[in-house]
Amino acid sequence: MNIILLGPPGAGKGTQAQRLMETRRLVQLSTGDMLRAAVKAGSEVGRRAKAFMDAGQLVPDEVVIGIIADRIEAPDCKNGFILDGFPRTTAQAEALDRMLAEKGLKLNVVIEMKVDDTALVERIAGRYACAKCGAGYHDTFQKPKVAGVCDNCGGTEFTRRADDNRETVVTRLAAYHAQTAPLLPYYRARGVLREVDGMASIDEVSRQIGRVLDSF
Ligand code: AP5
Ligand code: MG
Ligand code: ZN
Repeated sequence: MNIILLGPPGAGKGTQAQRLMETRRLVQLSTGDMLRAAVKAGSEVGRRAKAFMDAGQLVPDEVVIGIIADRIEAPDCKNGFILDGFPRTTAQAEALDRMLAEKGLKLNVVIEMKVDDTALVERIAGRYACAKCGAGYHDTFQKPKVAGVCDNCGGTEFTRRADDNRETVVTRLAAYHAQTAPLLPYYRARGVLREVDGMASIDEVSRQIGRVLDSF
C-alpha cells in the first residue's frame, strides 16, 4: 500500500508515519528528514537546501524530486511506503505520477490531516526528537514515559530542529497554503483523497487513519 500524508507543518505527519511503520510495516519517506540528513552530512544536496530550509521556504522542486526518485528505487519500498512531506507542489505531484507509472506502482490513498493554523505553532514550538533514533516527542502532548529517556532506544540526548521557531513557522505555513494546499483538489479530482481530524489526540488520529486504510 502506498500512501501520502498531506498536511501543514506540525499536522502530525511524522508522528503518524512513525506509527504506521510499526503497525503496517510501511517505509516512511520523509523529504524533510532526508534533507536534514543531507545538510548534516554537508552533501551537495544539503548545501543547496540549507538556506531555503532555514528560511522556511520550499527547496527547489528538482532537488526533492531527485532524492525521492532515488529513494523509491530501493528494495524496501516494494512492500509499500508512506510519503511524509512530499509532494508539496503541483510539479512534485506530477513528477510523482510519472515515477509511479514508470514503475507500475499505484498510489492508494492521500490522507489529508486537517489542523487549525493556531494549533500548529504550539505543536512545533514544543517538538523535540531523540538524538540517537529520531523518535519524536512534545513538551506537552507526547512526553517520554520516563522523563529525559527515549521510550524507543533509551537515549538521553534530544534535539530540536533549527527551523522550529515562531518566525519560520509563519513562513512555512504561508508556503503550505500557497504551494501545497492546491494538491487537495488535485487528488480529490482523482478520487484518492480522504480526510482525518488532525485536531484529535494522537491516538485518535491513528485510529482514524487505521479505519481509512482498512477500508481498502
Ligand atoms: P518537513 O520536515 O516536512 O516539515 P513540515 O512539513 O514543516 O512538517 P513537520 O515535520 O514540521 O510536521 P509534521 O506534520 O511531521 O508534525 P509532527 O508529527 O512532527 O520539512 C522541513 C523543510 O524541508 C521545509 O520547510 C522545506 O524547506 C523542506 N522540504 C521538505 N520536503 C520538501 C518538499 N517536498 N519540497 C520542498 N521542500 C521541502 O508533529 C509536530 C508536533 O506535534 C510533535 O511534537 C508531535 O508530538 C505533536 N503532535 C503530533 N500530532 C499531535 C496531535 N494529534 N495532538 C497533539 N500533538 C500532536
Ligand atoms: Mg515531519
Ligand atoms: Zn531514541
